Amino acid sequence: MNPKSLVSLVLFSTFAQAAPTDDPLGEKVGGDTTVYATGRNAFSFPAANLTDPEQTRFVIGNSFFKRNWVQAPASTKARDGLGPHFIARSCGGCHFNDGRGAPPEAGEQPVGLLLRLSIPGVGAHGGVVAEPVYGDQFNNAAIRGVKPEGKVNITHTEINGVFADGTPYTLHLPHYSFSDLAYGPMADNLLISPRIAPQLIGVGLLEAIDAAEIQDNARRQSLQDGPIKGVANQVWDAPSGQMMLGRYGWKANVASIAHQTAGAFNGDIGITSSVFPDEACTAAQHDCLAATSGGQQQGAQGKAPEIDDQTLGDVVFYQATLAPPARRAPNDAQVLRGQKLFAEAQCGTCHRPSYVTTASPNPQFSSTALNGQRIWPYTDLLLHDMGEALADGRADGQASGRQWKTPPLWGVGLIKDVNGHDRLLHDGRARGVLEAVLWHGGEAETSRARVLNMSPAERDALVKFVESL
Ligand code: HEC
Ligand code: HEC
Repeated sequence: MNPKSLVSLVLFSTFAQAAPTDDPLGEKVGGDTTVYATGRNAFSFPAANLTDPEQTRFVIGNSFFKRNWVQAPASTKARDGLGPHFIARSCGGCHFNDGRGAPPEAGEQPVGLLLRLSIPGVGAHGGVVAEPVYGDQFNNAAIRGVKPEGKVNITHTEINGVFADGTPYTLHLPHYSFSDLAYGPMADNLLISPRIAPQLIGVGLLEAIDAAEIQDNARRQSLQDGPIKGVANQVWDAPSGQMMLGRYGWKANVASIAHQTAGAFNGDIGITSSVFPDEACTAAQHDCLAATSGGQQQGAQGKAPEIDDQTLGDVVFYQATLAPPARRAPNDAQVLRGQKLFAEAQCGTCHRPSYVTTASPNPQFSSTALNGQRIWPYTDLLLHDMGEALADGRADGQASGRQWKTPPLWGVGLIKDVNGHDRLLHDGRARGVLEAVLWHGGEAETSRARVLNMSPAERDALVKFVESL
């Protein structure tokens, strides 16, 4: 690979250009990191203000994010070690074009949707207790000679409702079950949390928000009247070996991009690292435990990780510096009307519009280009009780079985361009923004009620605003 020529390929095909300085509407959602980009590659550009060496590192990280890992032993030692169990062969297999996964089509197995598994109880560092035989997530693929864990089956029931103006709507409530289980039955008290792969833009900017400011969101909400009382998750961060405020995952169940990356390599692709040195096989999975692992030359202890620290760091850096694309048409009259309705319906209490970043707590995997930027992610990064209909009934760290993290709304309107679908919410059950809002309950019940009472024109304006972010 020649990183320099790849850099020019990436950079000269971008629409990145200087953005206006006066920005009252938050058009530059990522401050100076913002790129002006639409279309299939809208989520794949580096922050606009990276240095040349940083752009090179971005391109190297990108290549390890995108390319498929292969079964060991293989001629390409740098990329072997896939499995024994896995769901996808690369990060990009789920985060296609750095974007969002979707539930599978009928008759297909999920890829961009993963099922977390556990049984009731509290595990190490306040985390979950993995399902004893299948582990903490379901792997429906495996290398040659090892059994895939089984198949996922998804059905749904329809929920019918009607807006105040008489317009009917139908929502799809998904149900999950397993078949062809390779290692026998699962625990009777199994808990399942289905989650789709979110778009990855701006995750480095979210890491550069001061934790105190997120705690402050919770403090402010606790002092307000009404049901909205967000709380921060506290989770174990393996790379730094400490409890930290959770920011990533649908339950804010991960604190750093570094942990998320090492965890995904291990759990989703079957690649070991210094952070997670053991393959994710349980004691009951003898074929998985006996399979050959790949990677570099064996270390002194006879075991070396399948991805080295340098490469792992480059993949973390790559995500940390993925730029959020600028808003489209923030001045459009309908969009401005939607912005007002968004505020009126209290959406912004949880989907907090804006922050100024400080600095990443992990500067070795990030860039000072992200520091001190006015950003517009539309999230408080807190957990909220969203009602029974969205509940997965599975606690995760401090998050209860009814709580979800407010996801950032930046880029939501571009998912259609990038991924060719409009599936939203933690399991992708919502088809578009309006359905996503109709699923809101619990602390967000007042917002939902307000939307049910909107006229068709108001609903369109609200959706148009969210899709402009
Ligand atoms: C099997 C599909 C799948 C694969 C493969 C995968 N991811 Fe993910 N990714 C997800 C899902 C699902 C989530 C949400 C997880 C959760 O809520 O617990 C996620 C979340 C993330 C997040 C947090 C985003 C946020 O804003 O919350 C990052 C960063 C990330 N993945 C990076 C990676 C990297 C790097 C790789 C490759 C090493 C990777 N992912 C491989 C499915 C996948
Ligand atoms: C009480 C906090 C709260 C309020 C108020 C709220 N939301 Fe949300 N929103 C959330 C949470 C939490 C989720 C994730 C729920 C899930 O995935 O199950 C979410 C998800 C979404 C999504 C899907 C995002 C994605 O990435 O899939 C959209 C769109 C959205 N909200 C828009 C709105 C709008 C518009 C309003 C006002 C009408 C609103 N929200 C009010 C907390 C809130």
